[in-house]
Amino acid sequence: MSWQIKQLAGSLGAEIQGPNLSSPNDDDISKIKSLLLEHKVLFFPGQSISQEQHVSLGEHFGQIEDHPNLKNPFTDYPGIFELAATHGGVADEWHTDITFDPSPSIMSVLHMVKCPEVGGDTMWCSLAQAYDELSEPMQEMCQSLSALHDALPHNRPDKMTIHPVVRVHPETGAKALYVNEHFTRRIVELNATESDALLNYLTSWVKNPRFTVRYSWTPGTVAMWDNRCTQHFVLNDFSGERIIQRVTIMGDEVKAAREPRWAPYVRPGSLSATSRHDRQLALYLKQKSDLKQKSA
Ligand SMILES: [Fe+2]
Repeated sequence: MSWQIKQLAGSLGAEIQGPNLSSPNDDDISKIKSLLLEHKVLFFPGQSISQEQHVSLGEHFGQIEDHPNLKNPFTDYPGIFELAATHGGVADEWHTDITFDPSPSIMSVLHMVKCPEVGGDTMWCSLAQAYDELSEPMQEMCQSLSALHDALPHNRPDKMTIHPVVRVHPETGAKALYVNEHFTRRIVELNATESDALLNYLTSWVKNPRFTVRYSWTPGTVAMWDNRCTQHFVLNDFSGERIIQRVTIMGDEVKAAREPRWAPYVRPGSLSATSRHDRQLALYLKQKSDLKQKSA
């Protein structure tokens, strides 16, 4: 049976009818891989997969990883992470998954187990389109910057890493704007107020409706997204239960469009009350240099 592929929005997203994801063959997987590079997020409604089949589907795309910070409320099935609305599992801030990690996951395979009749849609945005539509001077500047991310939303502000503000997709070569309101705290090379202004601008810019797709779920739908060039957001506008199970594929090295052109911002003079905004960055840089000295 041939597949029906319906593009859902101008920037990203396609709905696929046809494949049976409980037992995909090699041709199916290579077709899905190229569709994912093209559309960035894919939806397969009407699937029926067990937890075991879910994990083996994910294994076709790479090594499965557990969530670094969060525990599963219901399932102990290895490799499956479950989010349930009644356990606070609604990610209603725009984010790319796990960017506080040095190697954030490359993609996720989600199975919608239970969803409300109305509400609880998920939105994705294309970070490639968001980058492409910046003006050239803004692109130039962003390519030369890096940003500090942390796991504060998971109560782990001590988990920090630095990523380029613009990353290059390892397979397509496309550049993507890689900051998000959930995990990104600070532009490393700018002072605190400049960083706030630019981060506010960029994290709002990526939400431009023209860069997004919105999906209304039905139970059984499987979705896959490329976590290297998208963000997502769940609409917290429903009552009742919404349960998703997710398999996450281990990440790769985040490749910068360019090396940072400037050194990290260091506040001149001694620390004062106003320098509290620089404390986290100063702490991270100190930890890094202590580690370097230890390993030297
Ligand atoms: Fe997420």
